[in-house]
Amino acid sequence: MKKIALNIENFSYDILIDYNLIDNIGSIIKEYFNASTVFIITDSNVVSFHGEKINSILDASNIKFNTYVLPAGESSKNIDTVNDIYNSLANSEITRHDIIIAFGGGVVGDIAGFVASTWMRGLRFIQVPTTVLACVDSSVGGKTGINISAGKNLVGSFYHPSLVLIDANMLKTLPDREFFSGVAEIVKHSLLFDSDMFKYLEENNKRLDIEKNICELLEKNCILKGRVVERDFKERHERMMLNFGHTVGHSVEKHLGYGHFLHGEAVSIGIMFALKLGVKLGITKNESLIEQVSSLLKSLNLPTDLPIGIDVLSAIKLDKKRMSDSINFIFIEKLGEPIIKKILLKNIIF
Ligand code: GLY
Repeated sequence: MKKIALNIENFSYDILIDYNLIDNIGSIIKEYFNASTVFIITDSNVVSFHGEKINSILDASNIKFNTYVLPAGESSKNIDTVNDIYNSLANSEITRHDIIIAFGGGVVGDIAGFVASTWMRGLRFIQVPTTVLACVDSSVGGKTGINISAGKNLVGSFYHPSLVLIDANMLKTLPDREFFSGVAEIVKHSLLFDSDMFKYLEENNKRLDIEKNICELLEKNCILKGRVVERDFKERHERMMLNFGHTVGHSVEKHLGYGHFLHGEAVSIGIMFALKLGVKLGITKNESLIEQVSSLLKSLNLPTDLPIGIDVLSAIKLDKKRMSDSINFIFIEKLGEPIIKKILLKNIIF
């Protein structure tokens, strides 16, 4: 088993990674928290694949549990679902001493984290991510949030999970599209921080290749992201880099409706936009990177072109990194060398 310890602003938690880790979730909960009541937040897809398994493991460990199942998909990540979960927590008599388990992908993790940070002013929660994207990105780093009609993740909190438990077996049942959507965040990390990982992906772009060393890849990405979060939890500066590709990615998602593109697919489009803009503004030094990254993303079945009719500028106006007439935009100077540049909105050409 791989174990990564994160220490963030006087709070520490572990990320555990292995195959079949879910089989031990009962004993892990007892060992880490000495708790006997949990509330699982999950979605309709995850419950159909893994629901019976987690229920029987918790039963066998004498852990009392209730489960809230939300409809799978980004459109569930809203205040109505949060309200419904609060009512369910009340009916289940969940108190601050109990534990919430976020059992699912990014949507489940974000919403469950937000609920955990607000229910009775905060209770402990465990992230059990079941998608690649949630394993390498959303379950690590304590960002929680929901969408409102004005934009994605505009309401949320910074709130740490008390444990992240990654069972690599869970990823085997993912449809290809969902699997590669998560790999887009791995490509993002490689462009930002790890040129060797970029080369590795170029040479290992088939699902079977990626799955062969999945635990090592997940560990590497959790460490890369986790160390950034340790240095800059509240996203004052360095953590902004993790938003590479996200400014335009979010606007693509908002414009086409959440769910049209998966999050990683929208990020893939956003990465290409940022590279092209970087070259145009003379920030990205190596023009051939555009072709290199584009062919990697395409080989991973990820989209690279901005769909016609996207109003990038008006969506950017709602970005959390925007100031009045400018925005902190993330560029890549060279492979593995990110830079944050304040650019005028009028210079965002598309
Ligand atoms: N997904 C970017 C971050 O967690 O900061």
